[in-house]
Amino acid sequence: MKFTFYGHSCFGIETNGKKFLFDPFISGNELAVGIVDVEKIEADYIFVSHGHGDHVADLISIAKRTDAMVIGAYEVVSWAEKNGVKNLRHMNFGPAVLEFGKFHFLPAAHSSSLPDGTYGGNPGGFLFHDTEQKFYYSGDTCLTMDMQLIPMYAKLDFAILPIGGNFTMDAADALIAADFIKCDKIIGIHFDTFGYIKIDHEAVKEKFRTAGKELILPEIGASIEL
Ligand code: NI
Ligand code: MN
Repeated sequence: MKFTFYGHSCFGIETNGKKFLFDPFISGNELAVGIVDVEKIEADYIFVSHGHGDHVADLISIAKRTDAMVIGAYEVVSWAEKNGVKNLRHMNFGPAVLEFGKFHFLPAAHSSSLPDGTYGGNPGGFLFHDTEQKFYYSGDTCLTMDMQLIPMYAKLDFAILPIGGNFTMDAADALIAADFIKCDKIIGIHFDTFGYIKIDHEAVKEKFRTAGKELILPEIGASIEL
């Protein structure tokens, strides 16, 4: 399985012969300028955690160009529909099945409004059961007790969690989350993009190492084989 980081909370996963893209935000991310070419990103499915601009800025353009299916909260997907996207999967929380297998859309504790100011429904995250490795992407969220449900559903191979603080969990909270979800391999995202969420890379990695867990901080544009 290949993980490619496009910066902030935007990443691609290649699995089951398909390309999954998450939270497309490249335009407007100064750290991704000159590294990531939005026009070259391919996708079969685009999973959207919530409606904030730093998660949907390039959703419409990539969805139209690739004809990837847009999957997320009913309100977020309806916004994509209103903007001309045709391949859609409107959801609310719970399990669903697509051609690649079963997944859950699960609650996040955050907020969600769309770039046009309309209501974005509830923010969420995704848990994948039938991918080559089982994984969980929490979306933007603080630490929640609900995360303790995840190991009842799946024995995770890895998880993707925000670690920048201020808008989401920081690394200390993500370490507790890693215990809640019973997962030792965490890919940290949602850090460094804005002033509020700049982190000390070595310090947070050491925090995880000391706890016997691995924290991967991907480089923008880089791919990791998982
Ligand atoms: Ni957000
Ligand atoms: Mn965000």
